[in-house]
Amino acid sequence: MTDRVRASGSIRGRLLIQLLSGAGILALILFFVVQNFTKQLAEENQDNILRASVTSILDVAAVQNGQITIDIPYSAFSMLGNVSDDRVFYKITQNNIFLTGYDSLPDAKPAKSLSQPRVSTANYLGEEVRLVTSTRLLSNAGVPVLISVTIAQTRNGQKQTLAFISRRVSMLGFGFFAIAAILTVYSAQSTVRPLQQLAVSVSRRGPQDLRPVAAPIPREMVPLVDALNKFMGRLKKSLGQSEEFIAEAAHRVRTPLATVRTQAEVALHRVEQDENRVALREMIRAIDESSRAAGQLLDHAMVTFRTDYLEVQKLDLREMVFDLVENMRPVADLKDIVLNLENSSPLSIMGDSILIQNAVRNLIDNAIKYSPVESLVKLRFLQGPRKIGLIIQDEGIGFPKEDRSDLTKRFVRGSNVGGRIGSGLGLTIVDDVVGAHGGSLSIENNAKGNGACVTLCFPSS
Ligand SMILES: Nc1ncnc2c1ncn2[C@@H]1O[C@H](COP(=O)(O)OP(=O)(O)O)[C@@H](O)[C@H]1O
Ligand SMILES: [Mg+2]
Repeated sequence: MTDRVRASGSIRGRLLIQLLSGAGILALILFFVVQNFTKQLAEENQDNILRASVTSILDVAAVQNGQITIDIPYSAFSMLGNVSDDRVFYKITQNNIFLTGYDSLPDAKPAKSLSQPRVSTANYLGEEVRLVTSTRLLSNAGVPVLISVTIAQTRNGQKQTLAFISRRVSMLGFGFFAIAAILTVYSAQSTVRPLQQLAVSVSRRGPQDLRPVAAPIPREMVPLVDALNKFMGRLKKSLGQSEEFIAEAAHRVRTPLATVRTQAEVALHRVEQDENRVALREMIRAIDESSRAAGQLLDHAMVTFRTDYLEVQKLDLREMVFDLVENMRPVADLKDIVLNLENSSPLSIMGDSILIQNAVRNLIDNAIKYSPVESLVKLRFLQGPRKIGLIIQDEGIGFPKEDRSDLTKRFVRGSNVGGRIGSGLGLTIVDDVVGAHGGSLSIENNAKGNGACVTLCFPSS
């Protein structure tokens, strides 16, 4: 009955993707910022020590007895050793002439500003080194002497430290992401929870429950629930009107027809001329036909209407059939047909009593209508593991051989009907009722002898 609702994406999914990608980007930014920062710190640290080392060597350069002396202080290199186990190279030149250290060691590249000391990075003996060069101008007996000191240090220790910090920071980033993910899942869940609660509370309602939603809801959902409440209000009103209309229409059609029929019967007794009697009989037949057709049309409308809004309750099928049989006995008596109802224990099913009564009444009505006078209509119950059924067998003309499944279609009557009055809606009604209850209808002829055998099944409660 219900059309499948088209789902396009999910709010929770969207929230999860957006918040998780946000958290992922933040975690990456955190990782790069912290890594960059520590790298800068480590470089600055090494540069400062190299500068201090160069300065401490230059500070001890002096002119003694016309000779330049540089007594390299122990601390100049020991402070570098404190940082890591990296290799240290140095070179001292006097007026660009090599004095001591590693001759091939390049000077630090000149900086843009002339500030001392200069710092740069180079490749030396196959390793990356940080170089610091500084100069000092001395005077030897009035002759200017330029002393230049370069100290270089490899950066392996620094790289190791950075790799270690990177690992730590990536763990930190991952931890940050994991916590964000947990919070994200939680917040996505709690965002959609009111929606789920609303869906559950609405779907749990019975089909007749069209009360407005009263439970408190988040402000953002107010327009939706407001629209839903208004819609249910309108639906309730129009459902009430439809039900009233069908009942009223049935009454208005049947009552005048019944009056006309009574009048025609009375007239039939009064008139004497044969042709008038024939005409009146024709009239009564036509009235019967239209009254039946109108009745079944309205029944069909009512059944169609109610199958959408089933009022399901626990019913005793045995009791219901018993009452119906008692009700219809007078009609059967007109044709001297015996309605034989098998005895049974109570048979409980879940269903809409008005609809099921209507279906069974139509089947008994058919059995009487398509049976000859002085015959037997047998009604038996069937009790399966998960279903309860009613079998109605008559001794009548039986179903026609041609396509039986068509007989449940609207206004379709069999080729066997002869002059019997009917609208072709009886089995349609039965089929609709069975469909709405998840039951089954089988239309057969009796295996032995004449007559139809109709089986109606409903799921047991
Ligand atoms: N008990 C029966 N025995 C024989 N034929 C039947 C029986 N019940 C129904 N039918 C066939 O099925 C057709 C459809 O039944 P139904 O929908 O009740 O319409 P109708 O108004 O003709 O009774 C009937 O026209 C008739 O041909
Ligand atoms: Mg019928």
